[in-house]
Amino acid sequence: MIHLFDDLEALSQGAAEFFIDMARNAMAARGRFSVALSGGSTPRRTYEMLARPTFRDRVDWARTHIFWGDERCVDPDDPRSNALMAQEALLRQVPVPAGQVHPMDCLPDPREAARRYEALLQSFFAGGEPRFDLILLGLGENGHTASLFPGAPALTEAARWVAEVYVAEPDLHRLTLTAPFINRAATVAFLVAGAAKAAVVREVIEGPGDPSRLPAQLIHPEPGELHWFLDKSAAGALNR
Ligand code: 6PG
Repeated sequence: MIHLFDDLEALSQGAAEFFIDMARNAMAARGRFSVALSGGSTPRRTYEMLARPTFRDRVDWARTHIFWGDERCVDPDDPRSNALMAQEALLRQVPVPAGQVHPMDCLPDPREAARRYEALLQSFFAGGEPRFDLILLGLGENGHTASLFPGAPALTEAARWVAEVYVAEPDLHRLTLTAPFINRAATVAFLVAGAAKAAVVREVIEGPGDPSRLPAQLIHPEPGELHWFLDKSAAGALNR
């Protein structure tokens, strides 16, 4: 389903409302809400809105469990850290218990860190379906999502839930949820804004399937729901 907005501000408000709805539904059904946040710059405004009293007070943070869909392997106080961005924009402003916030810590050894994060997910989901209530994702101009980059070996992971990825440009190790694990989620929502993304949005949504070049095409939650939050500029090249 595509949700269309005039600009990033309106998109962020729509995404914040959606987050609140997903949290309420999950708590009503399962007594808790598990969400994997995305990095990149697009969701910052959504996180900032969720931190405002009018939004913040509509989420039961005591029953909310925060994870990440991907992380860059940098120090926790490095400005490139996805966890730091979400902490600054949202998590330090809301009463979520510290023990329910689970950044991907991927130093010093990304492969071991991937194994550790998967073990954490396994224990979190033990006794139930291993699926997030909500996963937020971004989309790179090259078709990547989370840290599933074109041509990366992680794209063909069938069994692991979390994988390490090395990206040469910029030179960085990363951790990412794998596509099969993302696809278990009840709901996945891409947040994409700006004209620079228009061509890749069209290719991913309407183009022929070519997931090794466009990893975002690997995301099709089954039996979950896929939502695209687009501003007019990002949706500008879509035919429908
Ligand atoms: C990351 C990501 C990545 C991001 C896209 C879009 O850590 O880089 O999680 O998948 O979501 O690159 O990023 P922007 O929102 O900055 O365009």
